Amino acid sequence: MPRFLATKPLSTLTKEANEVGENTLRRSLGPVNLITLGIGAIIGAGIFVLTGQAAALHAGPAVALSFVFAGITCAFAGLCYSEFASIIPIAGSAYTYGYATLGELVAWIIGWDLVLEYAFGAATVASGWSGYFVSLLQQLHIYLPPQFTTTYGNMLYFYGEKWVPVASLPSTVNAAALHHVAGVFNFVAFCAILIVTAVLVIGIKESANLNSAIVIVKLAIVGIFLVLGSNFLLHHPELAKLNWHPFIPPSQGPGVFGFGGITAGAASVFFAYIGFDAVSTAAQEARNPQRDMPIGILGSLVVCTILYILVSTVLTGLVNYRSLDVGDPVAVGIDVTGVTWGSILVKIGAIFGLGTVMLVMLLGQSRVFYSMSKDGLLWKWASAIHPRFRTPWISNIVVGTIVAFLPALLPIDKLAALVNMGTLLAFTIVCAGVWILRRRHPNLERPFRTPLVPLVPILGICSAFYLMIKLPLLTWEVLFIWLFIGLGIYFSYSIKHSKVQAMSPAETTGRTR
Ligand code: ALA
Repeated sequence: MPRFLATKPLSTLTKEANEVGENTLRRSLGPVNLITLGIGAIIGAGIFVLTGQAAALHAGPAVALSFVFAGITCAFAGLCYSEFASIIPIAGSAYTYGYATLGELVAWIIGWDLVLEYAFGAATVASGWSGYFVSLLQQLHIYLPPQFTTTYGNMLYFYGEKWVPVASLPSTVNAAALHHVAGVFNFVAFCAILIVTAVLVIGIKESANLNSAIVIVKLAIVGIFLVLGSNFLLHHPELAKLNWHPFIPPSQGPGVFGFGGITAGAASVFFAYIGFDAVSTAAQEARNPQRDMPIGILGSLVVCTILYILVSTVLTGLVNYRSLDVGDPVAVGIDVTGVTWGSILVKIGAIFGLGTVMLVMLLGQSRVFYSMSKDGLLWKWASAIHPRFRTPWISNIVVGTIVAFLPALLPIDKLAALVNMGTLLAFTIVCAGVWILRRRHPNLERPFRTPLVPLVPILGICSAFYLMIKLPLLTWEVLFIWLFIGLGIYFSYSIKHSKVQAMSPAETTGRTR
């Protein structure tokens, strides 16, 4: 049997999960911490930016149905993640699940692929964060050098006392006649990632507490929007009736309104759900992972699905969907209610909200590298634990420094597409893994069982693949290049240092007990 098909014995995984001592991660997270960790990762650029774009360009008021579609896809994957997280409560998430079921090479591919989700995800959100941050500063008449607030070559124009991209200029304005500059380096996004990295180095408990506090602020802002918005709509039912009609605008071509628009909208707002799986990367820091990991994963997913449906419904009632293709749709929606402080409040909420998304994404990234390094598949420094902070500090610093350059240099849309691709590939493999493990180890103790196996995993694989084929061709090309580089590292380093390879063949054939 080829060496790269070796699986990591479940008995070894269980032993690692139960390790205690100075060189291990601190078990300090309860179910509430885990749900807030999930919400911290999930609610971000998706709801604050993409809802408006999806309504304006794809689904109209039926964007609420797009959220239902995308939520169902994530629910299939969430159920599979929950089963794995309850059986194998180890920091590595999908990477570890793959190692236990599909073999070392597939595990490596998932681990490498998760970089696209977590590291590029943090970078994407940092890019959105910098947009909100600069916009808030400009509203307060504070101006940073514009060439250091956007990516290289991106033009900014001074209009209406603000530096804005050309897309934000009215069509009657001659852009060339305005004072303009070309972007050099997004220093704001760069600093945002470095600050989040510093928080993560200091410690998981501190990070989780900070995250919980900010999640409360974020939920409060969403709550204020819902209360103000629905109260306004109750007093102006004629506005709601006008904006919600027709609820599904007639199709104008593939992916533009009609039923096709709802599914295209779902592919777009999928980004808004990414992050619930990051809860599983904190399994070794959970006090009672068998019980609490499914609660954290599914609980955060349910809370966010409900909020997304409500926010998108209220938003399309307040503002006609055609006017929602803006960078700050929720702020635009709250402006309609006439509450003048609303826009500033929403921007502050978005700034904190996107901050927690970056935090959890980078946390997930360092924990995946931690697990891979522990298995000998990555260099030892990636799992070195700081003696006082008890965090994988070198991994945090190396990853954080590299990730900081991504939003500083690359545009947000390219980053986001790669994130969707990486995440959907991981979902597909996790769903397949649950099914395979049920067949190989039918009697294994499963504190949480995915219902209706193999139907749910099959539906999870099909729905994730359906969204993958909707992504641009360029994203597929970058995925293959990325995996090619990963395989180079695997065959030149990992296969020679793998700890599982050093075990006896009987232990690693995939039939181990
Ligand atoms: N779900 C996260 C967001 O919307 C990635 O920003």
